[in-house]
Amino acid sequence: MERISTDRIVIVGAGMGALYAALKLAPRPVVMISPEPLGDGASSAWAQGGVAAAMDVADSPASHAEDTVSAGAGTVDPGVAALVTQEARDHILDLTRLGTPFDRTEDGGYVLSREAAHSFARVVRVKGDQAGAEIMAALIDQVRRTPSIQVLEGTLATELEVTDGRVTGVTICESDESRSAPVTLAGPAVLLAGGGSGGLYALTTNPPRIRGQVIGMAARAGAVIADAEFVQFHPTAMDVGEDPAPLATEALRGEGAILINRHGERFMQALHPDAELAPRDVVARAIFAEVQAGNRPMLDTRDALGAAIKAQFPSVADYCARNGIDPAVDPIPVAPAAHYHMGGIATDTRGRASLPGLWVCGEASSTGLHGANRLASNGLLEALVYARICAENIAAVIPQVAKAAAPVEITFAPGGTPPAPLAVDELRQVMTRDVGVVRDAAGLTRALTTIARLEQAHGDSPSFQNMCATATLIAAGAFARKESRGAHERADYPAPLPGPGQRSNLTLTKARVIRAAAISTTTQELT
Ligand code: SIN
Repeated sequence: MERISTDRIVIVGAGMGALYAALKLAPRPVVMISPEPLGDGASSAWAQGGVAAAMDVADSPASHAEDTVSAGAGTVDPGVAALVTQEARDHILDLTRLGTPFDRTEDGGYVLSREAAHSFARVVRVKGDQAGAEIMAALIDQVRRTPSIQVLEGTLATELEVTDGRVTGVTICESDESRSAPVTLAGPAVLLAGGGSGGLYALTTNPPRIRGQVIGMAARAGAVIADAEFVQFHPTAMDVGEDPAPLATEALRGEGAILINRHGERFMQALHPDAELAPRDVVARAIFAEVQAGNRPMLDTRDALGAAIKAQFPSVADYCARNGIDPAVDPIPVAPAAHYHMGGIATDTRGRASLPGLWVCGEASSTGLHGANRLASNGLLEALVYARICAENIAAVIPQVAKAAAPVEITFAPGGTPPAPLAVDELRQVMTRDVGVVRDAAGLTRALTTIARLEQAHGDSPSFQNMCATATLIAAGAFARKESRGAHERADYPAPLPGPGQRSNLTLTKARVIRAAAISTTTQELT
């Protein structure tokens, strides 16, 4: 395989964490591996709610940290929650300086939305529901004007190069994997910022490419993966037959929208004192139960917002319009969909993975902030905080080269193997059916068996191997966690284990051992 060496820091991904890290590393030269044109295909660009930050004088980082810990169902690292919430305000001010047009009050403050399980309105927003797209646009504008940043648009990372236990490079190809032979790009440090795993599920709010490839790539190279089983299902994805499913932001419920079923019953009031603003896992399970019962759950914004939804939540109004729904007149059908992976590549408070030479930020990482149930709008915040931490740590430990790094120039040779579409479909279906909102040993074993078969049948596609690696980690982690905690609900173990919650740490090797044991136990039971 061709091997190209560069003095540039290699950043895998082009979402909010990747862009912000590239800016924070400047003038240090970086090269970004971006599968799509900048701004397309990243989950961050689709984020509606915004960034959680204690911006109100009556609010505080301590209160934000407390909400984060309590939503996380006993597995949030309190030190990480304190660190991230403390830095939140500074990042909002920085994004403002970088050109983000946050919604502002007449007296110059920030308009703050309320989202579930926050004890305060503290979600900083842009044009109602367009925070992700607008922050990304401001960062992309800065990146385009920063000469130290080279972006390889249309390229995809598929594997990590590890030399004597240290990450020394990344294998890349053209994003259309049928068109190019892979090339190894070797650099002084690799920062993974390529998103989570939601698209491993058939029902998801994530963009199509976000299918666990980055987590899987790190796992295949031997990195430790933390909390793999903790996948957050957003309660109010629109159930309109689109893949990915459009999101109806939680901020709508913050404005008073309610959840009803086809009988007109408001079912959340009986289930939690905070009703529609109960923690996300609670609402997701309630909506899932309504779906299972054939009760067709719906988000009713009619009284809370009426026709004002069009001006206040333009993205949601557009999604409704393209599906023939007028939310001022009709409730919006909803279902829970895979939305955010709390688990990911285990990283320390300097953003370092367990493999030397590898840093991680954003949804691909698992820092300990989210525990078993992420607090709304803490995802973008974590991406920003850890992007800067990674940039600072890389700059501190990787010696700067004296000369300016030349741009990376690659001509890909023909070749390559795309992931098999039918196998990807089958993988996504099994994840939604058997590793979804409610899990049990039988379903998880079925999923692990299917994943093993698909993985073996399609060993020629590194991308598909990455997806299968992450799917294995999620299902094996869920199989091994014999309790219900946060977003991880086991029908066969409905209570949390006594005592403080434990985070999980798995390698891919260990996950495969769990998989083999699960499959062999079932086989023995059947014979
Ligand atoms: C939402 O707007 O409901 C999603 C926000 C988030 O997932 O943090």
